[in-house]
Amino acid sequence: MTKSTDFFAKPFDEKTLVKLTIFSSYIKAWIPTFIKSNFSDIYIYDFFSGVGKDAKGTFGSPLRILQAVSEQEKNIIMAGCRLHIHFNDKFPEIFSQLKENCELELEKFSPRLRSMVSVTYSNYDFEELYPKVSHKLQNQQFKPSLFLVDPFGTFAVKRFLDQTLTLKYNDFLIFMPTSHIKRFYERPDFRENLDLPPLSFDNFETYQVHQAVVEQLAGYYQEKDEEFSLIPFTIQKNSNYYGIIFGAKHLRAFDKFLDIAWQLDPEEGNANYSISIERQRSKPIQGDLFTPPMPSKKEAFEVLLTKKVMQRKIRNNFQAFEFCIRQGHPPSHAREVLVKLKKTNKIHFVGRSPKILYIYYKNRNTTNSEKIEFIVL
Ligand SMILES: C[S@@+](CC[C@H](N)C(=O)[O-])C[C@H]1O[C@@H](n2cnc3c(N)ncnc32)[C@H](O)[C@@H]1O
Repeated sequence: MTKSTDFFAKPFDEKTLVKLTIFSSYIKAWIPTFIKSNFSDIYIYDFFSGVGKDAKGTFGSPLRILQAVSEQEKNIIMAGCRLHIHFNDKFPEIFSQLKENCELELEKFSPRLRSMVSVTYSNYDFEELYPKVSHKLQNQQFKPSLFLVDPFGTFAVKRFLDQTLTLKYNDFLIFMPTSHIKRFYERPDFRENLDLPPLSFDNFETYQVHQAVVEQLAGYYQEKDEEFSLIPFTIQKNSNYYGIIFGAKHLRAFDKFLDIAWQLDPEEGNANYSISIERQRSKPIQGDLFTPPMPSKKEAFEVLLTKKVMQRKIRNNFQAFEFCIRQGHPPSHAREVLVKLKKTNKIHFVGRSPKILYIYYKNRNTTNSEKIEFIVL
């Protein structure tokens, strides 16, 4: 039995299910966004597809993609948007099952929906396929694409990010065992294989490694393109840490991903376990009654946003939306802060809602713009 056949011969484990929840939530948010934005063609690539389901029949990424497409039937037909889906898996025995499982799912599509969806299957090595895909998409700059990159282990992240950076409307989700990176980083063959920019792990505990890797990668790429950003979500299983790296260039995409991440982790928005408990475990607070506990991520954001508003550095809902997303918080957090500032008579704005949502931000330069000014009292 190969590693791949073994993986699908068992029920998916807990970390895989968390990963799949994030994948499918994002796919479900991504498809309608682009269909409703009048794009004629949209592309989804699942580069490491697997067979489609586990031993219990729980759907993996390919069947979840098809399910998400089916749920959008009405919108797809109404918009006349064509979906191009590419499933890939290097191993022939996996590839043939993948094709069979996907074709069975596609048979459930109505003929009208089926005519809008083209599905390609391939069994290339990712390293061979990816340059061809990115080259094709570079020549189709107005065609949005979503990539799922879900290998068993690590892969040449830098090579992937260097090429992806050139794409205009692309979002991607990578899943990787990040704790391996810290463990093997000192080995030159490992580093060379992964093709990583220089990283530092000094001062990071293992539970922080995914976040540290992603933040350092994000810093490296933002120097090349400040629109491009990466968001981490860490998944713990026993003593191992895995992680999702979400990447995109658009505030709308970050808004959607942050919403999903904070729903899964209402405390910090970035892990399937309590980072604050891990923090205490690694550096226990000494029994000192006078040391205040560390503020939560949300409390720290409240302090920061309040300061910016009171100093008149953030003066309206558009600036507040952008600040909130760039700080890694969903707009609801900024709304709560601004409503509180109004209730406590620190600021005034017209109406009950500070209107911090992507939809208002999107229309900021149009005649329908709904700008809300914050007046410091
Ligand atoms: C973690 S599994 C993917 C799981 C799948 N995304 C799901 O949700 O069910 C990784 C898959 O990648 C395939 N694979 C491994 N190395 C590959 C490579 N270099 N190129 C493409 N596929 C590869 C394996 O056969 C395996 O099915």
